[in-house]
Amino acid sequence: MKIISVVGARPNFMKIAPFIKAIKKHNTDSTEKIEHLLVHTGQHYDDRMSRAFFEQLEIPSADINLGIGSGTHAEQVGSTMIEFEKVVKEHKPDWVVIVGDVNAILACSVTAKKEHILCCHIEAGLRSGDMTMPEEVNRLVADRISDLLLTPDRLSSENLRSEGVPENKIVFAGNIMIDTLENNRQKADSLKVNDIIHDNTVDHQGYLKKELNSPEFAVMTLHRPSNVDRREVLEPIVRFILDEVCNDQPLLWTIHPRTRKMLDSFGLLDEVMSHKNLYVLEPLGYLEMLKLNMHARVILTDSGGLQEECTVLGTPCLTLRWNTERPITLIEHGGASVLVGNNINLIREEYKRAMAKKRNPVAPELWDGRTAERCLKAILDYKG
Ligand code: UD1
Repeated sequence: MKIISVVGARPNFMKIAPFIKAIKKHNTDSTEKIEHLLVHTGQHYDDRMSRAFFEQLEIPSADINLGIGSGTHAEQVGSTMIEFEKVVKEHKPDWVVIVGDVNAILACSVTAKKEHILCCHIEAGLRSGDMTMPEEVNRLVADRISDLLLTPDRLSSENLRSEGVPENKIVFAGNIMIDTLENNRQKADSLKVNDIIHDNTVDHQGYLKKELNSPEFAVMTLHRPSNVDRREVLEPIVRFILDEVCNDQPLLWTIHPRTRKMLDSFGLLDEVMSHKNLYVLEPLGYLEMLKLNMHARVILTDSGGLQEECTVLGTPCLTLRWNTERPITLIEHGGASVLVGNNINLIREEYKRAMAKKRNPVAPELWDGRTAERCLKAILDYKG
C-alpha cells in the first residue's frame, strides 16, 4: 500500500507526527509494508512556524515540498492543487491522508478525488457552523468527498451522520493531537519557563528581555483574521490585557506573524512591547507551548488546538470566538473552555471566573494517546 500524507501549516505537524510513527511501527511489525510519502504544501515556511516542529516532534523531512507560501486563499488552494496533481500523477498512491482543517485539506482532497484516489480525513466531522471561517469551508468540502472520515469525538460522528454520510465511512478514532501531547509531556515539563522567555522574546527596537519573577502567569495567543485584522476588534482586546490582565499577573503573549504585522500597522506594537508585565514572544515550538500550558493560570486564545490541550491539561481557557467546532472542549461538555467572543465585558467576567478556578484535567473518550494506531487500522481495514 502506498500512502501520501499532507501537511501545510503549523497545526498539521503535531497531528501527522504520531501517524508517521504508527506507519513506522506497522512496517517493523508486519510483512506487508506501507510505502509512505510526506508532502508539505509549504503554506507555513518560517522556521518557527514549520521546521522547529519537524525537529521537536521527530517528523522526517517532507519528501516533497510544494513551496506554496503565503497568498490569498484562492492562490494557496489553486497553487496547491496544481502542484499536488503532479505529485499524485507521478506517485499514484492508494491513499491520500489529510489532517485538520487548513487550506491543504481542501486542495488535496479535491485533487485526490479527481485522480480517483482514496482520501482519508483525520479530524473529520468538526463543524463550527460559521461559514465566514475559511477552515469551515475546508472541512465541509473535504468531508463531503473523502472516503474515510476519522472523527475525534462522538459529536463529530453525529455531525457527519446528520449530513447524510453513510455509516461505513465514519470511524470514531479519537484525537490524534493528544497522542503527541502524551508523547511529549515529560520532555516539555523538563523545560524552564524563564529559558523559554529568554530564548523567544521578540527582538524589536532594543526592547529588553525580562526575567519572570512570579510562579503564576497567564498566556495568550491570537491569530484569527476575525480577531486581529480589524483595529476596532484588536485594540480593545489589547487594552483589556494591558490594563487588567497585566495588573493581576504577568502575561506571556506568543505572537503569530499575522498578528504582529497587524499590531504594527495599527501603531500598537511599541506600546505592547514596552509594557513591564507583558512578555511578547515569537511563535513557540511545540514543547515550549506545552510547558506554558501546563503551568498557566489561565489561557486566552482563538486556537482550536489549544482549546483541546487545555481540556486535557485542565487549564482554564477563554476562547476568543463566538463559536467553536470543538464543543467537547467547552465547560458544558466537561472541558475547560468558555466562549467569550470579542466582547470585553464578557471576556472580563469569564476571566475573573477562570482566575478563581483550579486546574481540572479531563480526558474525553479515546483521547488516550493511541489514536494514530486506530487511524492506520481504519485505513488498512477499509473495504469501500
Ligand atoms: C493558518 C490556517 C489556520 C491555522 C493557522 C495556524 C488556513 C485557512 N488557515 O492560518 O487554520 O489555525 O494557520 O497558524 O489554512 N506568515 C509568515 N510566516 C509563515 C506563514 C505565514 O510570516 O511561515 C504570515 C504571512 O504574512 C501570511 C500570514 O502569516 O500572510 C497568514 O498566514 P496563512 O498561512 O495565510 O494563514 P494563518 O493565519 O497562519
